[in-house]
Amino acid sequence: MYFIKTCVPTPSLLYVDQIKNSIYIEYLDDCVTLKEWIDRLLSNKDEPSLDEAAKALGEVVAKLHLNGIIHGDLTTSNFLVRAGQMNEFQLIVIDFGLTTIESANNPEDKGVDLYVLERAFLSTHPNTEQLFKLVLKAYKHAYGGNSKDTFAKLDEVRLRGRKRTMVG
Ligand SMILES: Nc1ncnc2c1ncn2[C@@H]1O[C@H](COP(=O)(O)OP(=O)(O)O)[C@@H](O)[C@H]1O
Ligand SMILES: [Mg+2]
Repeated sequence: MYFIKTCVPTPSLLYVDQIKNSIYIEYLDDCVTLKEWIDRLLSNKDEPSLDEAAKALGEVVAKLHLNGIIHGDLTTSNFLVRAGQMNEFQLIVIDFGLTTIESANNPEDKGVDLYVLERAFLSTHPNTEQLFKLVLKAYKHAYGGNSKDTFAKLDEVRLRGRKRTMVG
């Protein structure tokens, strides 16, 4: 059983139409996707801001997982960035179409979620291995408790992915 441990920013839910099987959510017109945000920072070689973005990403994914939420489609297009004053910004999670909610802690699901993020991140933003390491570091730190099994699963699926590449 999960308890809400910490909030995850998302667009507000406005209306649920059970007849049309539709949900209506807030449209955030003051945001850009994290993909665009990172691409912009990469082209400006703005390393401090890139590190901050990676840290925020790791933290928000840890928050999802601490609440038992497996996003299922973690890509940098599925986070919006709202920039504030100075260098402040907020990450907002979107696109919950493939999301599942765990009823009990399942490190395997979390490891696979991180693997999806890793593959998506490194293919969308080439040569960012060092930056992605910061995402995982921030995740581990923000998750707090035991993420050993989650990372073991991440290693396992990475290895499987690599074997598939060598064979195929
Ligand atoms: N609430 C929102 N406010 C502003 N833009 C949004 C919002 N939801 C989605 N978008 C934009 O639409 C794109 C696609 O939405 P998304 O929910 O990720 O659907 P999918 O990836 O399944 O097509 C996002 O990458 C983002 O650019
Ligand atoms: Mg999407």
